[in-house]
Amino acid sequence: MKQNEMKGHLSYRRTPIEVESPEEFGYDKIKYNLSESSVPDFILGDLDIDLNNLQLSYTDHRGYPELRQAIAEEGDNITSDQVLITTGAAGALFIIATSILSREDHIVLLHPNYVANLETPRAIGCQIDYLRLSKENKFKLDFNQLEEAIKPNTRLISLTYPQNPTGTVLTKTELNEIVALVESKGSYLLLDETYRDMTFNDPPLPIAASLSENVISVSSFSKAYGLPGVRLGWLISQNPVLLETFLAAKELIFICNSIVDEVIGSRFYLDFKTDFLKDINLHVSTNFKTLEKYMTNNRYLDWIEPDGGCISFPWIKKDIGISVRKFNKVLKETYKTFIAPGHWFEVDERFFRIGYGYPSESELEGGLQCITAAIEDCIQ
Ligand SMILES: Cc1ncc(COP(=O)(O)O)c(C=O)c1O
Repeated sequence: MKQNEMKGHLSYRRTPIEVESPEEFGYDKIKYNLSESSVPDFILGDLDIDLNNLQLSYTDHRGYPELRQAIAEEGDNITSDQVLITTGAAGALFIIATSILSREDHIVLLHPNYVANLETPRAIGCQIDYLRLSKENKFKLDFNQLEEAIKPNTRLISLTYPQNPTGTVLTKTELNEIVALVESKGSYLLLDETYRDMTFNDPPLPIAASLSENVISVSSFSKAYGLPGVRLGWLISQNPVLLETFLAAKELIFICNSIVDEVIGSRFYLDFKTDFLKDINLHVSTNFKTLEKYMTNNRYLDWIEPDGGCISFPWIKKDIGISVRKFNKVLKETYKTFIAPGHWFEVDERFFRIGYGYPSESELEGGLQCITAAIEDCIQ
């Protein structure tokens, strides 16, 4: 049987970003990993936690109450019962899209974007309009384009800020305008705030779900905190009907989270997060300076400088005659350097994502030198 003969209600397909991901390729085959959209992974010992007496039972269906309380305290007007802990932000995105959207509905999707934000609505088969970010517009969201894209059957507008893969951010004024627009149209806004703690110049935006019952916020332990192996994320909504539906979806798929994950994640969030984040942000800003130096007056590459997150989305300049396919192959196979190529984001192959938050400073420097060397090897 072929995949397109599957008759399920949702049309699942594997995407290049997952099929070709470093964990599927094999971390041991990579010397310089510049493909990650996260910060370095912690090890369990960093959290100084003894799990020996942990009773391996089911746990609170909404998630560990103290953890939900701590997350709620970061937003105005948010209570712990408006926070639902999920299996990664990916779990939250799946629950939200499948709860809100049907085939008859329309969604406005920011593009490029983190894959689950795109793929779940596609799997549902709903009508989609893309808000395409372009380098000509400095990867900025075009509010007029958003307004024009909304139709009478638009149920959901799905944005990610700070943005993946471009690292651009929204201002508070822009967020307020978008929330007002969504309310006036009677749609919902899904804001994937996974990188909310990682802005360079401005303080983080308010948790978007605190601004309106029409907004759902999503976040993660994986990207800004370095705990992707603890499969934890969360969603926040002030809308009781949505929340009850999201909880029902979670109970149907997972019942609850793994208690092991929740104990580890809670230990991080409640006892270590504030201190660890200082070190994480210092590492990210040091690496950013290295990347900035590399990009300044770069002969081959250009970029829109990011304002947040730990990723950037440069491109090979138009006048550089190169087979990008060959460049990707040489970079991976000869230089053992992993970047996130343009086709992972369904854009021109000249673009690629550099994750500068994950590697050590020397790995980043080594990887950047390999990018230059691979380009020079492939110039025609
Ligand atoms: C913007 C964004 N949202 C969500 C996710 C998924 O995160 P998680 O590991 O929590 O499922 C990712 C992962 O790359 C991401 O970049």
